[in-house]
This record gives sequence, structure tokens and C-alpha cells, in this order.
Amino acid sequence: MYGLEGRRAVVTGAAYGIGLAIASRLVKEGCAVALWDIDAASLEAARADLARQGALVTTHLVDVSDLGQTSRALDATISDWGAAPDIFVNNAGIGQVASILDATPEDFERTMQVNVRGTFNCCHLVAPLMCDRGNGNIVNVASWFGKSGRPMSLAYCASKFAIIGMTQSMGLDLAKTGVRVNAVCPGTIADTRMREQADEAALSKGLLPAADREHLIPLGRLGKPEDVARVVAFLVSEEAGYMTGQSINVTGGLWMN
Ligand SMILES: NC(=O)c1ccc[n+]([C@@H]2O[C@H](COP(=O)([O-])OP(=O)(O)OC[C@H]3O[C@@H](n4cnc5c(N)ncnc54)[C@H](O)[C@@H]3O)[C@@H](O)[C@H]2O)c1
Repeated sequence: MYGLEGRRAVVTGAAYGIGLAIASRLVKEGCAVALWDIDAASLEAARADLARQGALVTTHLVDVSDLGQTSRALDATISDWGAAPDIFVNNAGIGQVASILDATPEDFERTMQVNVRGTFNCCHLVAPLMCDRGNGNIVNVASWFGKSGRPMSLAYCASKFAIIGMTQSMGLDLAKTGVRVNAVCPGTIADTRMREQADEAALSKGLLPAADREHLIPLGRLGKPEDVARVVAFLVSEEAGYMTGQSINVTGGLWMN
């Protein structure tokens, strides 16, 4: 455990997959957690799931690519708590299996809107509040696809490279304010909707699904959402107090740069 009792944390894209695992981990760490997501049914299922484990969380239906919706979600979250977040995790994300030869302009635009503009919207609104208070932690969920171009992932790679750049830039700009900004770069993580969709798309294009690529992972298994959640908990804790602007691989050794 990382000594996060009493902190207030927002996790975007928290209804499913890695986001839900991060929310669950922060609840176990003693944080008050607000789950933000665009999917109402999954958001309610996530809330009920955490409630069964004894955790009281708040939920907000929001499309983070929309600045107005994001601003209203933040106002509502602050109103629930009576204070601004201490921790903000930009996890919401989408992707497609497509190269420059088959990516549509619409898919490219939407990926940049959700992954890049969504991260900007949330940071744009929450960073000034954290700076005014003189402390806070932002973690952006990037990807190892943000460190190296990968096949059939044009828009997704572009968006994740951008998130790593934004993490470094914000880390520098906010370094003197008491606000730290870091990123995690997951590898091939199982048990998420994005993974199911990517596997389906890969099969339809004659590519191998993740389970058939497991042998390429040095630690010998696909990642779990909880593997990423543990690293997020570390990054927002004082144990990582001398880290900012970093993008940490959680890939089982698949990527080392
Ligand atoms: N699964 C992997 O292998 C993997 C690897 C590297 C990085 N990632 C990143 O981890 C993050 C989570 O991915 P996941 O695999 O858990 O996917 P997922 O699809 O299971 O979860 C993503 C969540 O984000 C929500 N969401 C999507 N668009 C949104 C929007 N506009 N506003 C608010 N919420 C929105 C979805 O409803 C969903 O609950 C993403 O940023 C993804 O790029 C995943």
C-alpha cells in the first residue's frame, strides 16, 4: 500500500478494463474515487461491482473529448467532494487496427479527439486547480505504441506519441508548482474491451490475436489490468515523489526504451 488514504481521485474510462482496475486499486488504497465514462450501462455495473466490495464511489457520464461535458463532470465531482481532485488519471482511450491504407479520416479524427483532446481537456481543467493548491498528481495512460511505431495502428500510435509528449511538457511546466505528471505505457493487456476488439479486428485481417503472441513477452504472459493499476498507485504516491514527466513501461519486458 502506498499511503493514499483520504485522497480524492478521478479515473476516466473507469467503467471497464484498465480504468476499472485503477479505480478499484485506488479505492483499496483508501481514496475517494470518481468513475468517469461515456458508457452508462458499464458505468453502473462498475459502481455496483465496487459497492459489493464495500466501496462507495461516485459516477459521472461524460465524453472526455467534449470540453463542456468534461467541465460539467468536474464541477459535479468537486461538488460531491467539496474539494478538487488530488489525483487525476487520464485513462479513457480508443483505437483501431488500421494502417494508412485503410484508416478512415473519421477514425483518425475520433481517436485524436478522445485520446489526445480528451487528455488535454481534463488536464486543462484540473491542472490550474492543483497548481493553486500547490499539489496534485496526474497520470496519463499512454502505451508502448507511443514509444515505437507499430503496424496497423496509425491513429493510435499518433495519439499515444502525443500523450507522451504532453506528459513531458506538462511535467516540465508544472514542476515548480507541486504537481507531478507521469504516464504509464501498458504492453499487451488482456481482459479489456479494447483487447477483445483488437483481437477480433486482427483475426478479420489475418493477423494473430494477442494470446498467440504471448510467447514473445519476456515475462511469459499477457498483462492484467491490475499490473497497470499497481504502477499508477505507485506513481501518484510519495514513493514516486522525485518523478515527473516519465512514461513507465508496463509490458512484461516487451518494450525497454
Ligand atoms: N488493453 C491494452 O492492451 C492496452 C495497451 C496499452 C494501452 N492501453 C490503454 O489503456 C487505456 C484503457 O484501455 P482498455 O484496454 O482498458 O480499454 P477498454 O475499452 O476496456 O476501456 C476503455 C474505457 O474508456 C471508455 N471511453 C471510451 N471513450 C471515452 C470517452 N470519449 N469519454 C469517456 N470514456 C470513454 C470506455 O467506455 C471504456 O470503459 C486506453 O487509454 C488504452 O489506449 C490499453
